[in-house]
Amino acid sequence: MLSNKINVKDMKKTGKNTSIYGSRYVSEPIPKYEIPEGGMPSKAAYQLINDELNLDGNINLNLASFVTTWMEPEADMLINQTNGKNFVDNDEYPQTEIIQNRVINMLAGLFNAPEDSDFIGTSTIGSSEAIMLGVLAHKWSWREKRKAEGKDSSNPNIVMGADVHVVWEKFAKYFDVELRMVPMEKGEYTLTADKVKENIDENTIAVGVVLGTTFTGQIDQIEEVNDLLVKVKEEKGWDIPIHVDGASGAFVMPFLDSDFKWDFRLSHVRSINVSGHKYGLVYPGVGWLIFKDKKYLSDDLIFEVNYLGGILPTFNLNFSKGSSMVIAQYYNLLRLGKEGYSNIMHNLMDTTIYLADTLKDTGYFKLLDEELILPIIAIKLEDNLKDFGIPDEVDVFDISRKLREKGWLVPAYTLPANAEDIAVLRIVIKENFTRDMADLLVQDLNNIFDEYKKDLKDDSKKEPSINIF
Ligand SMILES: Cc1ncc(COP(=O)(O)O)c(C=O)c1O
Repeated sequence: MLSNKINVKDMKKTGKNTSIYGSRYVSEPIPKYEIPEGGMPSKAAYQLINDELNLDGNINLNLASFVTTWMEPEADMLINQTNGKNFVDNDEYPQTEIIQNRVINMLAGLFNAPEDSDFIGTSTIGSSEAIMLGVLAHKWSWREKRKAEGKDSSNPNIVMGADVHVVWEKFAKYFDVELRMVPMEKGEYTLTADKVKENIDENTIAVGVVLGTTFTGQIDQIEEVNDLLVKVKEEKGWDIPIHVDGASGAFVMPFLDSDFKWDFRLSHVRSINVSGHKYGLVYPGVGWLIFKDKKYLSDDLIFEVNYLGGILPTFNLNFSKGSSMVIAQYYNLLRLGKEGYSNIMHNLMDTTIYLADTLKDTGYFKLLDEELILPIIAIKLEDNLKDFGIPDEVDVFDISRKLREKGWLVPAYTLPANAEDIAVLRIVIKENFTRDMADLLVQDLNNIFDEYKKDLKDDSKKEPSINIF
């Protein structure tokens, strides 16, 4: 008769007649830092990694990131089918490049490129790559012009507000351009035309403006900056382009308020970036860069690569990349059309306004800015929380941590210079964040504050106040 011990050992070895949790792979340490000598069955590898990833936050409760976390099953199917296609192999996959160009056409139209303009664009990994490429092109044009005029071109600068994403600072450092970053002021968290005026000169390669800042979701004075630059060109002859960072806003504003002018309708707006993986409603990573006209992109920056049987013009920082998100972007544009995007963006704003009002009604929060233009909410704690029985030292960082214990991912941070003493919580409303979810979030916030009140009461029982009268 076989002993029970031998049976289990055999079973563990073979993994037969048991689930993956009866196999040896779950009871032995898994290889972490060295490539194992032998492999393991696919099911075991899948289960081990899948289980480990449970330690990550829940993507559906992630109100921190702008990035899309849900797509339709049909989009998922297209993505799965095209994961292996290298976008750069356009001789092998010419249709994928044609699809990219269709999207560029659609976006140029969405951003109101003039009918007769010879617009040009590219897909990128995200807005960061698109911004670097866009502003690099402006640096090139500025330098070519300066050289042609026999002028010094050794000190280029770029002007932007402190409300920009970190990629703008990266651009200045990586591409050796003087960074002229206008600090924020209390109550003024975006770039104004007046501040631009103080900072530009003949060496300014571009002004960067943001349609939906990462910090607060607000919008820079784009039209006012454009008017200023029109005047500057007339008066001083400096033709300074604007690059609009529409990472989140450029897929929202056209569907919410098509009369709002921020795009190619403004004469100095020469390039625009948008993240397909934000409100373009595609998973990471896809971004888009569109130039109003080919003439703003120097030929010198386009590399003709002789690759896999064809000549490939490239204007990108990387070489190989997946095709699936470019295809998924086209899926969304076909599937949703303007009407579908518009319905989603209006729903997002309804939820945003509802959540903002409900948060204010709790009495614990106030909005950084009462005017909500994009589906992004930045909130501060009310000053008088003590009156509610909340301990003085509670701050937004504590609330963010407590929310995380309940599964919600809501970041807390301080604003950039000169508003560092303002700390906010930021909530990004995404497509799959419903009104019901908004209620659940507020319920959890109320529970967090109730716990604080209870803690304070329990403490006061231990140490009764002397001042009992
Ligand atoms: C305003 C703005 N610009 C640029 C970026 C960078 O975008 P991406 O993550 O697509 O590279 C972000 C990301 O949040 C952003 O909010």
